[in-house]
Amino acid sequence: MIFRFDCCGVRHHRTRKTLTHDQILITSALPYVNGVEHLGNLVGSLLPADVHARFRRQTGCDMLFICATDEHGTPAELGAIEAGQDVRAFCDAQHAVQADIYRRFGLSFDHFGRTSSPYNHALTQHFYRRLDDAGLIEARTSQQVFSPADRRFLPDRYVLGTCPHCGDAGARGDQCDHCGTLLDPPDLIDPRSALSGDRALEIRDSRHLYLRQVELVDSIGAWIDSRTGWPPFVVSTAKGWLNAELRDRCITRDLAWGIAVPRDGFDGKVFYVWFDAPIGYIASTQEWADAAPGRDWRQWWWQADDVSYIQFLGKDNIPFHTVSFPATLIGSGEPWKTADVIKDSTG
Ligand code: MF3
Ligand code: ZN
Repeated sequence: MIFRFDCCGVRHHRTRKTLTHDQILITSALPYVNGVEHLGNLVGSLLPADVHARFRRQTGCDMLFICATDEHGTPAELGAIEAGQDVRAFCDAQHAVQADIYRRFGLSFDHFGRTSSPYNHALTQHFYRRLDDAGLIEARTSQQVFSPADRRFLPDRYVLGTCPHCGDAGARGDQCDHCGTLLDPPDLIDPRSALSGDRALEIRDSRHLYLRQVELVDSIGAWIDSRTGWPPFVVSTAKGWLNAELRDRCITRDLAWGIAVPRDGFDGKVFYVWFDAPIGYIASTQEWADAAPGRDWRQWWWQADDVSYIQFLGKDNIPFHTVSFPATLIGSGEPWKTADVIKDSTG
């Protein structure tokens, strides 16, 4: 028999003689490892998540509050280059700095992990394999900027040059910050490498993996429709993406730092940071579970129908949480927990 109580706004039920509170899982968007100076995460996502977690604990809920540093991709690489450090050493140091700051702010995480952990490497490769088995991964060839002097492909934002629209000399391959135009590296006049200044840049073919999200539009749409209590801005952003902007998504990059792609011909490439970062929510829970006896990550993530999962995030991250991450989870065909409520900084 199910009883409803109003003590903390969440479904409770009485089984036989014991009153059980449903489990509440809370995650906060994972701060970039180089993002100490970004207060946005703290104000927009970490603090609201923490307040909510404290409230749930006080009402006696079985609560788990998980976070981690987001350590891959160009943000981490660029941060390390600026600091003149090896990227792994840079991430080790910056993770410790952030953990210390959040401790001093009194944030009540049950676990503050890292997306560079072995757990996240294994789980990200697991998701890739499941998606591949489901026929949702496709290899395609695309053109990338290559720097002979740097002996590597350059991500768009590692290419600098003159903006073809406003003539600003400091435009990047992804965008001109001066006039706001979105660019592709070949648009730049007099392009050069941001790493070495190399001007002898070449365009070379590179193989990449795409997640065929377009195949999942109906399932993701049905999933969004099955959710209630989302702020209106979250719903409209999610629907907007799903209907107008959803494309098959390139989930690999020509970078050295990140999670290796377990596929022939993909040596030296890694998964895109936005593919592995949200998987870090689960991986961080696995690490939490292994840190003490009697903890089970599956209780929170696997066939976890009794869990209410609330995600806190900044508004820039809405498409990744309402569409891309659900595509990974749903596309795997496995019974992963998906968010019940998504709270962004506007609501
Ligand atoms: N690091 C991202 C940001 O600060 C957020 C990552 S959230 C996650 O914008 F889901 F990917 F983990
Ligand atoms: Zn410009």
